[in-house]
Amino acid sequence: MNKITVKICMGTTCFVMGASQLQELMDIIPSKYGDKVEIQGVPCLEFCNVNTESNAPYVAVADTIVKNATVDKVLETIERKLGYGQE
Ligand code: FES
Repeated sequence: MNKITVKICMGTTCFVMGASQLQELMDIIPSKYGDKVEIQGVPCLEFCNVNTESNAPYVAVADTIVKNATVDKVLETIERKLGYGQE
């Protein structure tokens, strides 16, 4: 199975809009998914410039962009990509 890369935007707009709460994913993801998922904090993903700020914070889960990201939304997206619940 391919490894999934999760990028949490740590740019100012996303941080102010709630990305600070997403930092707990840095602990949750490795303990839940081990080496199947890699997580990175990245500087501005450039979505805040293209879209309205009201969709921040943004998290990239492989090729999917999660808008208004929350811990639950990000975990759901990861599990969909990993194929959980589809057997
Ligand atoms: S600050 Fe997050 S996309 Fe720009």
